[in-house]
Amino acid sequence: MDTSTPAAAPRHVLVAVAWPYANGLSHLGHIAGCYLPADIFARYHRIAGNRVLMVSGTDAHGTPITVKADEEGVSPRDIVERFNPRFHEQWEKLGVSFDLFTTTMTDNHREVTWDLFRTLHANGYIDTRTTEQFFDPQADRFLPDRYVEGTCPRCGSADARGDQCDSCGATLDPIDLIEPRSKLTGATPEPRETEHYFILLPKLQQDLLHWLEERQGWRGHVVNWAKGFVGDGLIDRAITRDLGWGIPIPPELDISTEASEKRIYVWFEAVIGYLSASKEWAAQQGDPDAWKAWWEDPAAESVYFIGKDNIPFHSVFWPAYLLGYSQGSEHPLNLPTNVPANQYVTFKGAKASKSRGVGTSLLDYLEVFGADELRYALATILPEYNDTDLTDDALASRVNDELAAAWGNLVNRVLAMTHKNFDGEVPAPVALDERDHTILATVDDALASERDLLEQVELRRALKAALHAAQETNAYLNALEPWKTAKTDRDRTATTLWTALQAIAGINVAFAPFVPFSASTVDTWLGGDGVLEGRGWARPEVAAGTAIGRPTPLFARVELEPAEA
Ligand code: MF3
Ligand code: ZN
Repeated sequence: MDTSTPAAAPRHVLVAVAWPYANGLSHLGHIAGCYLPADIFARYHRIAGNRVLMVSGTDAHGTPITVKADEEGVSPRDIVERFNPRFHEQWEKLGVSFDLFTTTMTDNHREVTWDLFRTLHANGYIDTRTTEQFFDPQADRFLPDRYVEGTCPRCGSADARGDQCDSCGATLDPIDLIEPRSKLTGATPEPRETEHYFILLPKLQQDLLHWLEERQGWRGHVVNWAKGFVGDGLIDRAITRDLGWGIPIPPELDISTEASEKRIYVWFEAVIGYLSASKEWAAQQGDPDAWKAWWEDPAAESVYFIGKDNIPFHSVFWPAYLLGYSQGSEHPLNLPTNVPANQYVTFKGAKASKSRGVGTSLLDYLEVFGADELRYALATILPEYNDTDLTDDALASRVNDELAAAWGNLVNRVLAMTHKNFDGEVPAPVALDERDHTILATVDDALASERDLLEQVELRRALKAALHAAQETNAYLNALEPWKTAKTDRDRTATTLWTALQAIAGINVAFAPFVPFSASTVDTWLGGDGVLEGRGWARPEVAAGTAIGRPTPLFARVELEPAEA
């Protein structure tokens, strides 16, 4: 009789990851901030048997790209085309498993952006306004966003950028900067009138507030910020810019003039990338409607992985666009299920920022750390609740003292003992006693509590649960000493090694979202095919008689050069 409960239907989980600007590669701050957490979360769901769609791409537009292009004397398109393939290389090396990593420069993204723009316009949420923008009289042009720098009106930091202050995280309008200066000429810009499209957020304020009040399980700093921001009163926000690079306004609505070409504001269209990338992915699958399972089914989940500077755009503005777009529609699109924004990783007190050239690049670190080693070390310091200071020594000691010492070594010694004493085959257990049952229960409990933590995007604590199971299994071995009983009691040794191998198979699942490359290796050593996706979030049984692979060291210790005097 089959007493097993039928497997729950797979959940659809959209893993939406912040789109990196195409003006440089990632620093460790970005990796720990969103890409690694997103990947850990996606891998957990895939192992559990859920249908994950993990998308992002390079954010090709806006002044971060044009400023970089101006500096180098090349076109913005050249910048995007240079960096986009290098992002792919970076994800491959670190094992960040996007289902699609595209760019906002595609025809598909423009079409989807236009659909949102037109529908929001038709629904009465987009309209034109005349506004004041800074104009550089020397350069004879308007200065959108990052073309203006100055003092932050919120925190007084002297080097705020027109769109954002890195010191306090405030989202800014360049016109509010104190002592503004043009990034092009250094001149003091003057305000001039210009016409733009605005998104009429006050019309969506009540619906947004209502939605935010119903959120459960969100990080306090995210939902409280969003409620406060919406509760304080939203204002109409410009969603076009005087700039020649970006997605044009839909032709029939265009308000560009001879004096000023206008484009859709990068922050309006970049967030639409989650939807357009889902559609692009579906088209690539040969099933153009496949994206709907993640966007139109109210049971589907969508989790947005971002840094805290992106909170306004993902917890308020993107939900607002979705609400306004879906109004009156028979198939409203899903709003975010969760936005587990991270705080910053800091290096000696300064936020890692690609645009300012502070911080250290991922590819540099991958010269010194293996991919799993770096993933593990970063996962132990994810800035889930506080800014986290990062030092190379701390990263190295996590790898050497925890990952290699507790987990790598456990796998190695148990597999080596199996070869030495049982010809490399999983021995049949003879009689399990309480100690054997207890360690297996410990591993099962670790997997269960880790699952709950992963569901809540508490990734640091989830990793601790996995490490704890490995440490307990080491303690079990130290108590049972199979290397000693091998000479005196073959039955006991067989039982101990069988039990340890079962524990290892479970702990390997527990570590797999964090260190996928070595998890695949361990799986093949235990007789599997190396693919954990779809196996289920549980301890698999390794049958007696299974031929075990010959272990080699799983992780490379990290030896840092002594710090320069
Ligand atoms: N490129 C921007 C940033 O890195 C925006 C990322 S998220 C997006 O801050 F969804 F808006 F693209
Ligand atoms: Zn500030």
